[in-house]
Parts: sequence; structure tokens; C-alpha cells
Amino acid sequence: MGRGWIGLGALAMAAVARAQAPAGPINNGSPFTTVTGEVVQAHGAGVIKVGAYYYLLGENRDGYRFKAVSMYRSTDLRRWEFRRDILTSASAPSLRVANVERPKVIYNAATRRYVLWAHKENGENYNEARVVVATSDTVDGDYVYQREFRPLDHESRDMTLFVDDDGSAYLISAAANNYDLNIYRLTEDYTAIAALVTVIKGYHREAPALFKRDGTYFLVTSGATGWNPNRASYQTAAAMAGPWTAPSYISDPRTYNSQPTFVLPVTGSAGTSYLYLGDRWAPATGQQPNDSTYVWLPLTFPTATSVELPGASQITVDTAAGTVALGHAGTTLATLRSASRRACARVADQSRSYEAGVIASDCRRDPGALVEARAEGADLRYVFQHSGLCLAEAKSTAEVVQTDCTVGTRAAWSMASGRLLNRASGRCLVVAGDPRARGGKLVTEACGSGDDERWILVS
Ligand code: DGJ
Repeated sequence: MGRGWIGLGALAMAAVARAQAPAGPINNGSPFTTVTGEVVQAHGAGVIKVGAYYYLLGENRDGYRFKAVSMYRSTDLRRWEFRRDILTSASAPSLRVANVERPKVIYNAATRRYVLWAHKENGENYNEARVVVATSDTVDGDYVYQREFRPLDHESRDMTLFVDDDGSAYLISAAANNYDLNIYRLTEDYTAIAALVTVIKGYHREAPALFKRDGTYFLVTSGATGWNPNRASYQTAAAMAGPWTAPSYISDPRTYNSQPTFVLPVTGSAGTSYLYLGDRWAPATGQQPNDSTYVWLPLTFPTATSVELPGASQITVDTAAGTVALGHAGTTLATLRSASRRACARVADQSRSYEAGVIASDCRRDPGALVEARAEGADLRYVFQHSGLCLAEAKSTAEVVQTDCTVGTRAAWSMASGRLLNRASGRCLVVAGDPRARGGKLVTEACGSGDDERWILVS
């Protein structure tokens, strides 16, 4: 074979090896990228499994306005291939200036069509409160705009879809200024509303995600606080018509700094896991919607009718087995220890708030002090295990805080001869105040040669 053929052979072998290599971790709070290096833009996502592929679809915006519903696919929920913008601002005149949020796709076996529903607004405000419906003959084809409307004249904002075991399909959407959640049954072809099934009144919940497990229906929702995270809850029922239980809060006050969008059953040889898909909205920390990242975590079920959501900065998914584990075997969690003070970086009170201060305190290996050193390009980001947020310089002071990992260079560090240099300011990480006292604030200051600037990752 000539050199060219050897090259092609090597390329093919590398592709096969890559495809067979175990997938790496899913990194919560960092951008997902495709196998060709593009950033995955699928916010407010839905997932539909067709054959061996999971198809992920979600919001891809131009600023705050609708650009496209972008679709990706993967067999392992880790390595994504971009497929197509399945609905775009050019798909209909009314989508040219619009917002299209929380798109979901379901398959109708009778018509053999894929049906997309999403929350549609006019791109200026949230007064339209409509759904938009589009259809395609293939899961990753061009979806043809059908109509937009208020379901039975009710407001309709945050929404999701659910197809039951008997093929009945439902729209669940926030109504009455987000104080109610309406559940509608769809028509046989899934493109319109057949009936209002029930109204879950007065809890002021949004961002619904509905799934069924061993005969029990679970409805996971968030509170209504704009782009800011809050405490998710779950409700259960034995039938879609209810009665639904009152919301029970999930453990974490900020849902690990995310808002629900979908719960994906992952079924394999070892059974079925239920994967919570959440959005960590970047507008909550002053960035653009497309800077938002993902928080994917395994739901746990203390009882047949209760749900918990453990937090972790990474998860490991095995789609062949149908398992989702917290953390990742290839990652080391460590404490960031000051060489001079024998104290470790820790977020006071294990706060999960954006811009919460970081202090030098005891080195107990609890989640409030455990960090994962995550390489992103030439930089390092230190992700706190308890919050999924990153070590960063404060926006306008030399104080060191935790915040969203995508806020740019103020959350990026480089390690050089034991010093941690902040990429934005070029200053070094030190502990302020009396070196003998515990609890000193972490700050950055001009780099020097003192021991106070030396840090060790103790795994
Ligand atoms: C909360 C909703 O869940 C999101 O989809 C988005 O509409 C934001 N509000 C906008 O503030």
C-alpha cells in the first residue's frame, strides 16, 4: 500500500479505537462539545431515543432571541455528533423574531411522523405564552412549522411532553402566570390538543419534566425565579389525571445550581437509570444564554414514590448497562492546601451561591473542600464538589469566590512552581490576614516569592 493508504488505514483505526474507547466523564458546569470540537447548543433540552442513538435537541440562540432548535446524537450520551438545526428562525415568518424554548420531540407510530412542541414567544417579552408545533418524517430532518396557539386559550409557557405506555401523549405546561400546571392529552396524531386532563393548581412551579417508573408518574419542577436556580421539587400520581401529591422538595436548595428540563430513562443490560437533565443558565451570572451549561445527575429513589438528586461535578454514564454513577474513575478529587498554613480552600458553610467567598480552613475531605482540577485548554478550573461551581476571582475585587465555571478567564488558573496564577488578573492566590488564624479569606495579589503563594493539590 502507498503512504496515502497507510494514512487512511491509520485514520480508520483511530476512529474505531475512539468509538470503542470508554467514554470519559460528563462534566457538569462545563460546555459539552461535539466530536469535532463545536460547543453543543441544546439548552432547555429534550431527548428522544431512536435505534441506538439518543437525539438531544434544544435552544440555540442569537443573543436572547431564537436562532434554531439544534439537534445532536450520541450512542453513549457523551460523544455528540451535530445533526442539524431542525427548526430555525427561517422556518416560518412568525419565528423570524421570536423565542422558542424547551423544545421536545415525540414519535407518532400511527402517522410515522416526529412531532416537535416548544414554548413560543415574540422575542420581546413573555406575553404570547403559546406553543409552537412542527413535524418531520425523520427524527433529524427539517421540521415543518404547523401552527402556534394557546392550548384551549390557556397561557402556555414552560412545557414538556410525555408519551405513556398506551401511546397516549400529553402536554404539561405552565399556565395562569405560572401559578398552575395544566396537563392536556394530545390528539391521535400528537399535533393538537384533545382535552384538558387536569390542572395542578396554585403551586407556582415551572420547568416541568415528567417520567414514569414502575407505574408511578413523577413530575419534577422548579420554582419560578427567572434564570436563577432554586429548589426543585417532585410530585407523584398513579394516573396522569391525578390526584397529584403536593410538591416535595428535592434535597439541594439550588438543585446543584440548575433548573430541570428533562428526565431521560437510560435502559441497558443492568436495568434502567433515570438521568436528570438540568440547565445552569448563564444569564444568572451575567452572560448570554448560549454560555449556559448542563447539569446531568442520576435521580435516586429512596422509596417507590420519592426522589432524591445527589450532586456531583461529574458523572459516568454506561448506556450499554443502563447505569449512571457519580464522579468518574479517571478523576481525582483533592483538597487545595496552602503550603504555609496547612489550611485548605473551602467555601464557607458549603454554600452553593454564586460569588460566595472562599476561605482557608480545615482540610477535612468533605464536599465543601473537595475540588476536581478540570483542564480546559491550557487552563485549569477548580470545581468545588459540593456546588459544581469554580474557584474564581470576584468580578471587581481581589477576593476569591466560587461561581459559574464559564464566566471566562477569572475562573481560569495556571499552576507554576506551586503558585496559582489567575488568568484574568495575572495575580497569585494567597490567604489574607494573620497566617496563624484559621478562616482567612482567599484573595489574589501581585505574585512574589513568599511561601504564602504556594499551593498543593492533596488527593
Ligand atoms: C425560566 C424558564 O424556565 C426559562 O425557560 C426561561 O424562560 C427563563 N425563565 C427566562 O427568564
